[in-house]
Amino acid sequence: MSEQVFADTIEKDQRIEPRDWMPDKYRATMIRQIAQHAHSEIIGMQPEGAWITRAPSLRRKAILLAKVQDEAGHGLYLYSAAETLGADRGDLTRRLIEGRQKYSSIFNYPTLTFADVGVIGWLVDGAAICNQVPLCRSSYGPYARAMIRICKEESFHQRQGYELLMTMMRGTEAQRAMVQDAVDRWWWPSLMMFGPPDGDSPNTAQSMAWKIKRHTNDELRQRFVDMSVPQAEALGVRLPDDDLRWNADREHYDFGAIDWSELKRVISGDGPMNAERIAHRRRADEEGAWVREAAAAHAAKKREAAAK
Ligand code: 3HC
Repeated sequence: MSEQVFADTIEKDQRIEPRDWMPDKYRATMIRQIAQHAHSEIIGMQPEGAWITRAPSLRRKAILLAKVQDEAGHGLYLYSAAETLGADRGDLTRRLIEGRQKYSSIFNYPTLTFADVGVIGWLVDGAAICNQVPLCRSSYGPYARAMIRICKEESFHQRQGYELLMTMMRGTEAQRAMVQDAVDRWWWPSLMMFGPPDGDSPNTAQSMAWKIKRHTNDELRQRFVDMSVPQAEALGVRLPDDDLRWNADREHYDFGAIDWSELKRVISGDGPMNAERIAHRRRADEEGAWVREAAAAHAAKKREAAAK
């Protein structure tokens, strides 16, 4: 497959597949984005995982367990998609642990009460849906196909979070205050999930040209705000932004300025929970080494037996 065939395939909105010719930079940015997405899913298990043993009922525990397991599965699909590009998941894990690859800023915030579990479902998974649905049409085939199943599960994640919050909002004054406190803490970091503003995004132009991204960071952020405001009203919570108002001319909600220095700080490792998240991931990787070694030894034995 030549450069021209690659360009024609992209032009015609068709898929690039693992065995197709692709520019080295396309391969590299696909590995970069898919790996970070996978790292985000795996690290994203930690904030909510901390509440599985403290869920207020068996039903909430079962739902939360299912959701956290889903995130693990999303990570595995995405590491498999990265491997179709020649990446090695062990190497990607080392890059994550050594800070040479990123994961989503949103998972570096603490989950202080059970209302955080609901707000993460509603806002964080809601933002993920805004970001991931267009990725179902991403030009790289294995990534786009992984997104289709992931998006179906994200819808369950978002709905269970919103239902949890609806339940708490029909509860006591203290429960309503817990929900509002969680919304106050997670709203702005959820807007930052979509990345820096388009003018400050070094990857967007090329990723749009190669149809890896189908919308820019700001377009998806706006879509998320427009989707969330009516949901907040229905829930009976206030979004912590005095500048949030409907703009009839734009037919979108105007919203306040985002503190980009916070995003830069969190991405560079200086967020509230970065050290804990990476230490937890490093520990899990070390404690799981014997499983990987045993599986590799077993596979080698099977190969030897087959070769006889
Ligand atoms: N957290 C951490 N790093 C971020 C970030 C964020 N919120 N936003 C941007 N960055 C990084 C980028 O990775 C890039 O750094 P790099 O070149 O070293 O990779 C740099 O900041 C500049 O940003 P760009 O906008 O130029 O980078 P991208 O074009 O890659 O756009 C993105 C960033 C929108 C996050 C894009 O990578 C993307 O859409 N990724 C796939 C979706 C994803 O990863 N979602 C994250 C959460 S996963 C999730 O929500 C799970 C669910 O279950 C909750």
